[in-house]
Amino acid sequence: MSLPSEPGHSAASQPPQHQQQQPSQASAQPAGPSHQPAPQGAAATGGNGHAGVLRFAAVGDLHVTKDSAGQLRPFFAQACEAADVLLLCGDLTDYGTSEEAKVLAEELAHVSVPVVAVLGNHDYESGQPEEVARILKGAGVRVLDGEAVEIMGVGIAGTKGFCGGYGRGALGPWGEQAIKSFVQEALHETLKLESALAKLRTPDRIALLHYAPIVGTVQGEPVEIFPFLGTSRLEEPLIRYPVSAVFHGHAHRGSPEGKTVNGTPVFNVAMPLLRHHYPQQPAFRLLELPRPAAPAQPGAGAH
Ligand SMILES: [Fe+2]
Ligand SMILES: [Fe+2]
Repeated sequence: MSLPSEPGHSAASQPPQHQQQQPSQASAQPAGPSHQPAPQGAAATGGNGHAGVLRFAAVGDLHVTKDSAGQLRPFFAQACEAADVLLLCGDLTDYGTSEEAKVLAEELAHVSVPVVAVLGNHDYESGQPEEVARILKGAGVRVLDGEAVEIMGVGIAGTKGFCGGYGRGALGPWGEQAIKSFVQEALHETLKLESALAKLRTPDRIALLHYAPIVGTVQGEPVEIFPFLGTSRLEEPLIRYPVSAVFHGHAHRGSPEGKTVNGTPVFNVAMPLLRHHYPQQPAFRLLELPRPAAPAQPGAGAH
């Protein structure tokens, strides 16, 4: 669904099937002068030079077109300099064509840090999201669709998500088959997020989505379209499997920050929103997490 802004209720949470370590309390800020500047040459080493922390730069809704060639390279260079990992929250292309995906892949070819992404609804518009994902994977992007990856000791679970509304207003699976199918898609995406999160055993975890899992970060959009911007069904796995932070896009005119009901920070990183709220800063959000200790080498120090 393409929206002007570009833009049933759930069962109670069950106890976790296994206890996971509580993730770090995340701090995420818009990129900008409030941060220590990255040292010169940091991008060449694939990091920001801060030994004790890992930095993640997150942005969504790039909406790359066939005319975008060359336009994102300075932006990506800034992100590489500021962060150790780049996170992309869907709507990477405007119409989901292979031509657009190739333009983005070429822009990303110059990125020197790991890139993890989910697709958005625009990446499905031409009916070939698999081709968009294949092209991006060819450029080294880890495209998550209900999967999890571990980057430098931090777990990242990602899926596109879906819509359907929030809280008591969420659409329920009742009546016509079309309504039931619509709700089933939201449930399916919710299960994909849950299964991805359940695979992670890292102390710190991040969730990547395109659609918004809470109503807080769509506030600012016309209330009439809230149900098409996300659904609180996506919030349930985030309660069962706590994460350090959640990033999403899609709501271009929403709010930059919110929290899940259990206090997990949620960041809307749609590029148009970041540009609007933080016009003086690069349009990505920085998340800082403690850098996990490197695993001990077998036999090291045992002589
Ligand atoms: Fe978008
Ligand atoms: Fe979108």
